Amino acid sequence: MESLFRAFHDAGRELFLVGGAVRDLAMGASYQDLDDLDFCTDARPAESLEILRRANFRTYDVGIEFGTVGAVLKGKSSEGYPKDVQVTTYRSKEMYSRGSRHPVVSYGNSVEEDLWRRDFSINSIAMDARGNYVDPYNGRGDIERGILRAVGDPLERLTEDPLRILRIARFMARLGFKTDPGLERAAHVKATFLLDIARQRWLQEMNKLLIGEHAPAALDFLARTRALGVILPELVALVELPRRCPAGPVHEDFWALTCARVKRAGDNKVLSWAALLADVGRPWTRHVDPPIEGIDGPTLAGLSASAYPQEPFPGTSVTFHNHAAMAGLMAKGLGRRFHFDTATLDEVAFVLGSQRAALAYSADWADPDVRRFVQEMSGHHAHVIAFGRILQRDPAEGAGGADLDDLEARIAALAARGALVPEVPTGLGGALMKAFGLKPGPILGELVELLKEEMLDGRVGFGLEAADYIAHLRSVRPDLIAG
Ligand code: CTP
Repeated sequence: MESLFRAFHDAGRELFLVGGAVRDLAMGASYQDLDDLDFCTDARPAESLEILRRANFRTYDVGIEFGTVGAVLKGKSSEGYPKDVQVTTYRSKEMYSRGSRHPVVSYGNSVEEDLWRRDFSINSIAMDARGNYVDPYNGRGDIERGILRAVGDPLERLTEDPLRILRIARFMARLGFKTDPGLERAAHVKATFLLDIARQRWLQEMNKLLIGEHAPAALDFLARTRALGVILPELVALVELPRRCPAGPVHEDFWALTCARVKRAGDNKVLSWAALLADVGRPWTRHVDPPIEGIDGPTLAGLSASAYPQEPFPGTSVTFHNHAAMAGLMAKGLGRRFHFDTATLDEVAFVLGSQRAALAYSADWADPDVRRFVQEMSGHHAHVIAFGRILQRDPAEGAGGADLDDLEARIAALAARGALVPEVPTGLGGALMKAFGLKPGPILGELVELLKEEMLDGRVGFGLEAADYIAHLRSVRPDLIAG
């Protein structure tokens, strides 16, 4: 990094480290931990490029027309090198064009002006070559107090770029900070403007938010400001479910459960999304028995919650039949809206549809039961088991329950013996045709499927020769052979 500062200094230009890196340093991170380094300079982009090239930095294009030049800093890998560096010419106030990553740029004249156009005080600190801070908006004070505060007028900052509403939530989740009341009010006013932002960017922010240690507070912020209703309207019904229940508080507060599970899901993206959406099917599958006359709760009727019984109706039961399958279905729809990649979408939807499957495990499962479980989970069993652990720690689950460590150990042991997933030897098709005088056709596939079923159920071993499998088929389906 010194060589970079020196190159700009020797050219008579200013250079400051800015943005997330300075924030993280001010919060106690070390240089080694930083992988994305943003700098700002008074040099125009073409000159920055020339300074970098003259000093022998490898440069790359990141959008010179937006004022940014990319370079790679080399150094010891033990110190986290190589590091990506972006050098951006000072900007003045800019208007992010809605829905686009790239702002409409006009250049600024000083580092102070550049810091002024940034989002939050904690992100508007710069650092010079000697490690001195330039901190005109008291970002370090806000770091100390754990506060997210806009630079200048919060409404203006969020109008410039409504994505910043999700950035607030992301920083709350990651840093555990609270929002300044003015910033939260502005987010409440501007929430619908998130519709102007590309869905891929919603996804990027949500992915970071969900794996944050303080995700529950961030999710509550999204619910309070109505941003949740803009990006994930499916979840609003869940937030309101207890208040809307015509039978009063007869079931749990599923939103509180959801938030707690997201935290438990840690930094696994699939599990985090599954935790967020696990109960999304409940509002749509709730059935109150005996039925209670009238509309479905005070919110829909525009009434106050107190108009509804707050004590359970005696003898009332509430069920959520097939809510897991409903969640899987809803995840497909909203995952497409967020532009999930296909693999993640399939995985999340599958885990949701089978969310409690692993909890059915008991020690008296025989090996075929374990194999069937793995087969039914279609390659997703590891996530389904991990999700089972998340559910097991819900307060209502109590102690005990399925021993998922044991299930995992048994799957691993079967896999190690080559006896988990049935596979037939190569060339079996030809051997079958010869043995039974068959022509190519669907019958061959049916025989292979039959064999796999026999292997799953443990009636014939794994890893045998084609001849052994043919002999087995002769013994189990003499009728078929005769036909
Ligand atoms: N920034 C901004 N408004 C945005 C996006 C970014 O003002 N909508 C500014 C902030 O000063 C931010 C910097 O640009 O710190 C860099 O943004 P980014 O690369 O997104 O990084 P951060 O979000 O700050 O942090 P991290 O690198 O940890 O993701």
